[in-house]
Amino acid sequence: MSETQETGADAAVGTAQETLSVVDNRTGKAYEVPITDGTVRAMDFRAMKVDEEDFGLMTYDPAFTNTAACRSAITYIDGDKGILEYRGYPIEQLAEQATFLEVAYLLIYGELPNTEQLKEWTHAITIHTFVHENVKSLVEGFRYDAHPMGMLLSSVGALSTFYPEAKNIHDEQTQYEQIVRLIAKVPTLAAFAYRHAKGMPYVYPDNDLNYAENFLGMLFKVAELKYEADPRIAKALDVLLILHADHEQNCSTSSVRAVGSSQVDPYSAVSAGIAALYGPLHGGANQSVLEMLARIESVDNVPGFIDRVKNGDEKLMGFGHRVYKNFDPRAKILKKAVEDVFEATGTENPLLEVAKELERIALEDDYFVKRKLYPNVDFYSGLIYEALGLPVEMFTVMFAIGRTPGWVAQWLEMVGDKEQKIARPRQIYTGDRTRDYVPIDQR
Ligand code: SDX
Repeated sequence: MSETQETGADAAVGTAQETLSVVDNRTGKAYEVPITDGTVRAMDFRAMKVDEEDFGLMTYDPAFTNTAACRSAITYIDGDKGILEYRGYPIEQLAEQATFLEVAYLLIYGELPNTEQLKEWTHAITIHTFVHENVKSLVEGFRYDAHPMGMLLSSVGALSTFYPEAKNIHDEQTQYEQIVRLIAKVPTLAAFAYRHAKGMPYVYPDNDLNYAENFLGMLFKVAELKYEADPRIAKALDVLLILHADHEQNCSTSSVRAVGSSQVDPYSAVSAGIAALYGPLHGGANQSVLEMLARIESVDNVPGFIDRVKNGDEKLMGFGHRVYKNFDPRAKILKKAVEDVFEATGTENPLLEVAKELERIALEDDYFVKRKLYPNVDFYSGLIYEALGLPVEMFTVMFAIGRTPGWVAQWLEMVGDKEQKIARPRQIYTGDRTRDYVPIDQR
């Protein structure tokens, strides 16, 4: 950034160049701030001081609503056009034609795997689905009614104690081994959490099954010798995982990046992502959507509920998005998948009609249109999970399984980004200053 002595309007006049001309009216000084990729560097504003003592200007952006924290080539979203691409491939094509493990490879390594690469990748993940028996004992230590997200974030974090070499975060082979282990073991830990809550014996992975079938087997296998998944349900699950695989710098991914920036191992960083996803405003929304639909109960009660949302007494869970201000392309795909899964499972959920009526009203009602509130990925996914026979507490766990490749891809990109360092935001201090200690008998 260059500081020019021009003051007032002169400084603002310049050739049409990729710069911001800024006049600091406190000093009359003018500055030229470079614009790169539609952004200005916050650090360029630190030079704008009222005197030599001054720390310099900072930018203030609570919740980072307008702050780019990194450069990334993994996922592209256009919130106005409802576009979502993983490494440039449209989500619609990937959901239709790819498998989840193919998409995981694409997100992490940047290209779709060829036959040999996919075979090797699938084999590596398949043979790493088991967890150490001590991890099983850890899961068994939870109360019978422990929320599976609390169990998952704990058990994934605990994996860091079984693979201490994971701390070598810059070693390529070590990176690969931990990435494979995380993608392979998260479903196993998720299924253990589910079986724990059901009071049923844990089912070990079956390496003859593909990723989605194996997960369904670890969830639902009872006394049969060999679990056989309905291929339609396994396919629907695979599509669900693809739709959740990554979503650029959302709350949980930003948490993985921030925690990972301290150079901790990836298990601990992903555990932080699971904790962030747990929240009802983020991945926890799919559980809240089903609970909301159940509370509304019938189409007749929808108008009254909508009124309560407008009064601010309720939130329309599964609606709205920080980035999508039109439609969430994942919600469109999921809305169709709901019908397919209902057909496959022979279930018909009356709450689907409630969901459709909520969507119909919200898309017409000015309150929602003005606030650009459209169904997001969480609005329909819960109906599918329920049709698969999962309890609402498992819905966000399903989101975490799908998002694991995205988290590890973003972690790997952050580790390799020469511009990244430990995340440490600033603050605007609003508290007291230099007060003298008051002895307790004088307080
Ligand atoms: C996910 O970031 C990602 O990419 C996330 C995600 C991913 O793949 O990682 O896409 C997954 O988390 C999807 C979002 C799931 N959450 C929900 O469905 C919970 C309900 N939605 C919201 O709480 C909300 O819409 C957020 C959190 C998703 C977005 O919130 P923002 O961007 O901070 O928007 P806001 O809260 O500033 O809302 C703007 C206005 C406000 O009204 P006013 O104060 O201007 O009058 O819209 C209102 C909000 O009150 N509003 C809602 C609403 N969402 C926003 N009003 C009713 N119901 C809602 N759902």
